[in-house]
This record gives sequence, C-alpha cells and structure tokens, in this order.
Amino acid sequence: MADETKKWVLMLTAQTPTNIAVIKYWGKRDETLILPINDSISVTLDPAHLCTTTTVAVSPSFDQDRMWLNGKEISLGGGRYQSCLREIRSRASDVIDEKKGIKITKEEWKNLHLHIASYNNFPTAAGLASSAAGLACLVFALAKLMNVQEDESQLSAIARQGSGSACRSLFGGFAKWIMGKNNDGSDSVAVQLADEKHWDDLVIIIAVVSSRQKETSSTSGMRETVDTSKLIHHRAKEVVPKRIIEMEEAIRERDFSAFASLACADSNQFHAVCLDTSPPIFYMNDTSHRIISCVEKWNRAEGTPQVAYTFDAGPNAVMIARDRNAAALLLKRLLFSFPPPSDSDLGSYVIGDKTILEDVGVKEMKDIETLPPPSEANTQTHKFRGDVSYFICTRPGRGPIVLTDETRALLDPETGFPK
Ligand code: DP6
Repeated sequence: MADETKKWVLMLTAQTPTNIAVIKYWGKRDETLILPINDSISVTLDPAHLCTTTTVAVSPSFDQDRMWLNGKEISLGGGRYQSCLREIRSRASDVIDEKKGIKITKEEWKNLHLHIASYNNFPTAAGLASSAAGLACLVFALAKLMNVQEDESQLSAIARQGSGSACRSLFGGFAKWIMGKNNDGSDSVAVQLADEKHWDDLVIIIAVVSSRQKETSSTSGMRETVDTSKLIHHRAKEVVPKRIIEMEEAIRERDFSAFASLACADSNQFHAVCLDTSPPIFYMNDTSHRIISCVEKWNRAEGTPQVAYTFDAGPNAVMIARDRNAAALLLKRLLFSFPPPSDSDLGSYVIGDKTILEDVGVKEMKDIETLPPPSEANTQTHKFRGDVSYFICTRPGRGPIVLTDETRALLDPETGFPK
C-alpha cells in the first residue's frame, strides 16, 4: 500500500438510472437475501432526468465507513447497506493508480474504510424509486473503484440485497429480474432484454401527484401482502409467469398494444393485491384514479392504446406513450385536467424534456388556460388544479456509467469529505 502518512484519497464517481416496473415485483420468499416470488420487467428511465450520482472514496485516513445522501449524513445501519459493502469488499481485486503512486491489494481492501456521497437529481421524497437508483449506483461505483471483475448481472445480485428493484437499474433499456430457484440467491439476477435504442419511439410522462399521506414502505407493504393475501399467491404462480413471456415478446416485437395492455393490467393487479392485504393498503389516490380514467377513455376512443400507465407504491402515475405525437396529446389532456396552481411557473411545472411543450402548443402559463377539452371527455371537463405537483417528461435511457469529469465528484479529492 502507498505510504499511509501521505493520507492519499482515491475516488470514483458514477451515475445510475432509476427504473419503472411494467411487470411488478411484489413479495419476497427470503427477506434477508431479498429473493422475490416472481420475475419482473422494467423500463430504465433516462438518467438525464432521473438518476443518482454517487462518489465513493477510500483513504487510510478514514476511520469508519460513512455516507451522505443529498448532503446529509445518513447511517449505514445494520442491514442492507452493510450487505452490499460486505459482498463488494469480498470481490475486490488489486488496484494500482500509478499517477498517485497508490497500490491497494485485494487483502487490504478489507481494512480500508469508505466514504460515500450520493445525490438524486429528483426529489427523494417524491416516491420515484430513489432507492433503486441509489443502491444500484452504490454497488456499481464501489465495484469500479475496487476493480471487481464481475459483469452487470453478477453485480445485480449484490444490488438486489440493497433493494430488490435496484438490481434492474444496472441495465439501460429494458431489464428482467429473474427470480431464480437457489436458496442462496445466486441465480436471482437481472438481465438486459433490449437496450435503450431498441424502442426509441417511446416517451414517458410522470405525474408527481400531490399527497399528504405517508405511504406504507414497499418492504413492509409486500411483507403484509405475502402474509395475508390469497390473491398474491395466485398472481405469482398463475398470472405473472405468462405475462413475463408475453411482455418479453411485446418488447422484442415493439408491439405497443400488447405492451400497454400488459403493463396496465399488471399495475392494476399489483394494486388489487394491495387492497387484498389485511389491513388493506391504498397506494393510489383520487388523482391516480382520475389519471387512469383519462387514459383508459382516450385509449378506447382511439381504438388502439396510445398510452400505458403504471403506478408503484405511491400515487404517482408513470405513463408511457407510444410515440411523441401520442405524448403531446397526452400532455395536452393532462394539462387541461390538472392545471398548475396559480403561483407556479411553467418551467417548474413541466420538467425534464420540455421540448414536448412545443408540440402541445404551450409556450406560457396562459396557454394552458385556453387548452380545449379533449374530444372524448363529453361532460367531464372539471379541472383539478394543484392535484399534480409537476410533470416530468422523459424516455427510456441508458445504464450506469463512470463519470470521468472530476468536477462532477461529490467528495473533495484532497480530504474525501463532502464538498
Ligand atoms: C412497487 O425494491 O422498493 O416498486 O426490495 O424491499 O427494497 P425492497 O422493495 P422495493 O420494491 C419495489 C416495488 C415496486 C415494484 C417494482 O419496482 O417492481
């Protein structure tokens, strides 16, 4: 190892996307290893709009493992973070940095402490799968820093032990988490079904729905469902296996009608098993239900699906439009029904890829007020001002990358502490 008195710091920064499941993971058969009761499939979201950036650093001057999330120190706790750190450390290889004159051997990694700083480019509290991107980024960044010689699927089995859905964030495009059969979880890994270029017509609009209610966490929610619902076992054994095959085919063939009907049905069944839990769990609220009605009504009026919707463990709607034209028509409908509160500005009401606003014909706030009601709406032209906090326009995106631009690092290169 390099001279310890020199107090060197070696660090690396990575960026990892979040993902949204279109065939949901809900229910574990092993709580510690995080092994699911069914396969799941997700779409990776463009990291330009939703991602986690993580800097990991190692130095002989660090006296313990420490982590900062969005600038605030958090406890690495007993459980999941520690499982990921242990698994990654056990796979570390020799690292030589000739420029800095540092050599860390495989054995030495076990005794060196780490500093980790993580930042989400979207509100952590908005319920947008921040744990998926966060844990995947932690594992990916540490694997690169420690020269772990494993592929993304093998790394996904480590990220899985941090948060189940995180294993799918190691890939861009479309990913499948294979539940596996082994008791040690060695075959419970994610694989890529197709990269982000495979189906680049798709446009994703997320409605971040205002909510005052504190939701049941996914972890405890799925535990209660497995313990009390009969429906979940029917879903895992009879329904999901067929849907997985059909969804893989829909993605392979870019068959939007099949993709949309499977994604909507699976989201609705996931919320049905939540309702079948005792006591019942309600993740969607009135706004979520209104968005479903709006999309269903429009899809039916068109004769073929234009938009798929899916909801995770919260009220936010993730809508996947078949192409840009459908996305613009969708956003027009959404802005008509859910206009922004009068004190907000357009720039913060529609974020992400704002170019879609041009297709909608909205340049300023006043243009939203003059949008015509959708033709299929009939009498339902009521406006629900303020029920959506904001919209994020995005698309399927790429997998994790190492950021070589040192100015993006979240830790100081001299001290290894947050900048
Ligand atoms: C509804 O991955 O957050 O988003 O494994 O306990 O950390 P833990 O749960 P988590 O659950 C995600 C559930 C979901 C569906 C999905 O992403 O597949």
